[in-house]
Amino acid sequence: MLKSIHMLFILLSVGGFMTRIMLAQFKPACLQAKLGKIAPHVIDTILLLSGIALVFQGNWMAGEYGWIISKLIMLIAYIGFGVMAMRSTGIKRWIAFVLALACFGYILVIAISKHGFI
Ligand code: HEM
Repeated sequence: MLKSIHMLFILLSVGGFMTRIMLAQFKPACLQAKLGKIAPHVIDTILLLSGIALVFQGNWMAGEYGWIISKLIMLIAYIGFGVMAMRSTGIKRWIAFVLALACFGYILVIAISKHGFI
């Protein structure tokens, strides 16, 4: 159940991020909608909380937890590049966008393999 919530909010997070980047590029006025401003924070908070809950549910801190730390570091990088992509323009936006998605992909690899870089 908790894992399904985690998965759902992973999809909502990355889907929402891609949508916002496209809107920022092609229809910036749409980003002014109140829902579009609040929803990403709500989605990302639930994603983080579901991840933290999974850590406790699976008692992951009792064993090898380097992958969880790696995941958190990559999450910070994903958010950082995501913010950079939203705030930049031109080629800088697209470089930050690709880097954010690369971080996201790496988080998936870490999550599935349970092996990080720590
Ligand atoms: C963009 C952010 C995230 C992505 C893409 C992501 C992705 C995933 C995926 C795909 C799984 C399922 C892996 C599998 O069972 O094969 C998973 C599980 C898990 N995630 Fe995340 N996650 C993210 C954020 C987090 C955060 C922030 C935490 C903890 C603070 C976390 C903790 C966990 C834990 C502990 C599991 C293992 C659950 C289990 O098998 O018992 N995740 N994550």
